[in-house]
Amino acid sequence: MRALPKLGPGPTACGSVCPAGVAVRADRLDDAGYAAALTAFGSVTPENELKWEISEPGDGRYDFGPADSIVSFATRHGMAVRGHTLVWHLQNPGWLDDLSPAELRAALADHIRTLMRRYAGRIGEWDVVNEAVADSGRLRRSIWLDKLGPGYIALAFRLARAADPRAKLFYNDYGAEGEGTKADAVYRRVARLVRQGVPIDGIGRQGHVDTKPPPGYAQNVARFARLGLRVELTELDVRTQGDEAAAQAQQYARMVDGCGPCARFTVWGLDDADSWVPDAYPGFGNATLLGDDLRPKPAFGAFRAALLRR
Ligand code: XIL
Repeated sequence: MRALPKLGPGPTACGSVCPAGVAVRADRLDDAGYAAALTAFGSVTPENELKWEISEPGDGRYDFGPADSIVSFATRHGMAVRGHTLVWHLQNPGWLDDLSPAELRAALADHIRTLMRRYAGRIGEWDVVNEAVADSGRLRRSIWLDKLGPGYIALAFRLARAADPRAKLFYNDYGAEGEGTKADAVYRRVARLVRQGVPIDGIGRQGHVDTKPPPGYAQNVARFARLGLRVELTELDVRTQGDEAAAQAQQYARMVDGCGPCARFTVWGLDDADSWVPDAYPGFGNATLLGDDLRPKPAFGAFRAALLRR
């Protein structure tokens, strides 16, 4: 296979501002073609390997094997790593359900400290809290909200800052790319955290989109940047139905062009074979930049061109 052209400046040259990232699966790193294609990107995000169910499957029993293999791959190739994610309502191990509020709080502190210290200096930024806001704009029911109350969000950020003071700390969510109820709710909550002095550095918009332009995208992104936060698209993919290759390419470019303040664009999955989209959105697929045999689709060229004209 021919090597993919780099997406933006080469990974070793771009340091912490590598503009293109990709979600990675540890179990595919042994595939030479997959590994080679990854190096077109400047950073990686472990797709599942740092989530609780994999990183701490038993109380105090950590498993860093899968995450370690991704982090060492990235280090070997001069790529940055995004840590995803410390607090979420999904992919949690069952043992958390049995804990009292005080025990859950202690487990959270231990988990954040253990993961962040282990990777300090190697994982430069973390999604500390993921998807805390429901589509209605209210806080989402979760083990965290139910047992620790709404203060769990600020608590998680404070624990994270203490664990690794140099890491950039993100709030990450979906469905808030364009203007709307959810974006307003996320904005209000994040603005309040900033006002209250909670240690938050960045806002991640996941960017799981179809081919339609998100309404008010550029303005919506800009207001978050005005809070003084680093902005990134953290899980970009453009799902399609049927033959929408051109519309998809256009949407990838639009998502880059419309986010002036974005410091990084991470695509959720290297190739269509790996993408979570067919499971999550029945009837949709082909959402990533690479198709069969890791061949670049029109979206790859459009995404790259958009990055290079920034
Ligand atoms: C997804 C992964 O891609 C899947 O492999 C897994 O089965 C479920 O989670 N928002 C997030 C990501 O923050 O962690 C999710 O990743 C996709 C939606």
